Parts: sequence; structure tokens; C-alpha cells
Amino acid sequence: MKKYGKLIGASLGPGDPDLITRRAWAALQSGARWLYPVKKAEEASYALSIVERGGLAVPADAEALVFPMTRDAEILAKAWARAAARTVELLEEGRDLVFLVEGDASTFATFGHLARVVRELAPTVEVETIPGVSSFAAAAAATGTTLAEEDETLAVVPAAYGVEVIDHLLDEFDTLVLMKVKPLVDEVVDLLERRDLLATSCFVEKVGAPGERVVRDVAALKGEAVNYLSLMLVQNPKRARGELRRGCRKRKAAAAEAQPA
Ligand SMILES: C[S@@+](CC[C@H](N)C(=O)[O-])C[C@H]1O[C@@H](n2cnc3c(N)ncnc32)[C@H](O)[C@@H]1O
Repeated sequence: MKKYGKLIGASLGPGDPDLITRRAWAALQSGARWLYPVKKAEEASYALSIVERGGLAVPADAEALVFPMTRDAEILAKAWARAAARTVELLEEGRDLVFLVEGDASTFATFGHLARVVRELAPTVEVETIPGVSSFAAAAAATGTTLAEEDETLAVVPAAYGVEVIDHLLDEFDTLVLMKVKPLVDEVVDLLERRDLLATSCFVEKVGAPGERVVRDVAALKGEAVNYLSLMLVQNPKRARGELRRGCRKRKAAAAEAQPA
């Protein structure tokens, strides 16, 4: 049987190199070959920039994989197939690969899809995911937002579902994290205004990276072209809660007592 190198997805956190975990740092220095995502050939990689700011030199044989930002299914499919085929080709050399991931590798990340396609091409490839700090965890910390406490509910959604869906989710969740909010900022601001939630919402751009920006007056964002690396945290303190099933512990204790000794 072919002996492949291992494919490691190393989460690097959203921008501040101090948020790279020790495990990811060790993987970067393990001698594994680096792979990093770019949107276009020859374009800078955000994930790579986090590591560079952390003080690690980029190895001469580090290689970029192109993942275009498009909704064109044909272009996407071709790019994915090319990236996965190249990854398998490199794994066939027997050396481990560490794929650099911005934020957390299991959260809206290219790595999950890449690993899946690689496994389809080479089912015996070992895949390791190194977890990390997500953009919204860092944004919550940067803004002093508590995402959820006690029985509160939290949803993390791409804003692209549209304001009707967001409107509905505001009735179901105490906190919404709106990822990929860029194309919908104006519509979301209008919705927050209608629902009287401007005061409990904030916008965070490039958290942890040079140019980080926190905007608490989200209405001021209207008409602005924000960065793709941005999200909104929306809290709905007025949400009507459903009834909670309380006393589970008590019921368990009663059941245990009813058991014969
Ligand atoms: C493809 S997803 C990557 C998510 C990432 N894997 C994570 O764990 O947060 C890209 C979206 O994540 C959010 N994002 C990623 N990095 C960010 C940052 N440094 N600051 C603010 N938002 C960020 C934005 O909503 C952006 O549109």
C-alpha cells in the first residue's frame, strides 16, 4: 500500500499571531511542507501573513494553492480538483503537509473541503485537524461581548441567507454571529434599526490583524464598502424565551434512588 504523508490542517487564529496554538506552531516547525491558500496566483495569502507576523520564515518550498472567490460552479470545481490533485501528488512523496488555515479549520474553512476531496482521491491519507481560535471568538473578546451565558442560545450564520432569515433567527437566538456580512451590511443595519437592536450590535473587521476595526455605531457603516474579513455580533436582549426543561438533575437523582441497591 502507498505510504502517504499526513495532511495537517493548522488553525492559525484570525490574525493575531499570539493566538496561534502551541500545537499549530509545532506543526509549522515540524519539517512538514507548508501549503497555503490564495485567491489568485501570485496574490498574498492572509493565512501566511499571520505566520510571518509571528516571526517564522516562510520555507523556500512552501506552496500556494489557488481557491478563487467566485460562485461560478465550474471554475470552483476545476480549482478544487486541481488543488486536491496537487495535494495528493505532494503527499505521495511521503512528507507531511501542513495546510495553513485562517481562524479555525473546522469553521467555514477551505480545509474541510480540501481534506474531503483528498480523501476521495486517496482514502488512506491520514488527516489531522488542529483546532484554533475562530474569528468570532476573537471578535467577542475584542468587543467584550459574551456570546452566550447559562441558557442563552447562539447561532453562527453566513449573512448571505438574507435579512428575512436573520429577522427570524433573532426570535430564536439571543446572540447571532453574522459571518461574511460584507455584501449585506446596509440591509442588516436597516433590519437592526427596525428591531431596535442597533445598541446591542457591533461590527468587527480584521480582528487581530493590522487595520483591526471595531464599530459600535453600526448605523455609520451604511454605504461603506467594508472588508471581506468582517462580521457582526448581534444580541437580542428582548428575545422571548421558550420554557426550559428544568430539574433534569433532580429527576436523575430520583431515578438512581429508585434502582435496587
Ligand atoms: C471563509 S470564512 C473563515 C472563517 C474562519 N475559518 C474562522 O474560524 O473564523 C471568512 C469569514 O470569516 C470572518 N472572518 C475571518 N477572519 C476574520 C477577521 N480577522 N476579522 C473579522 N472577521 C473575520 C468574516 O466574516 C469572513 O467573511
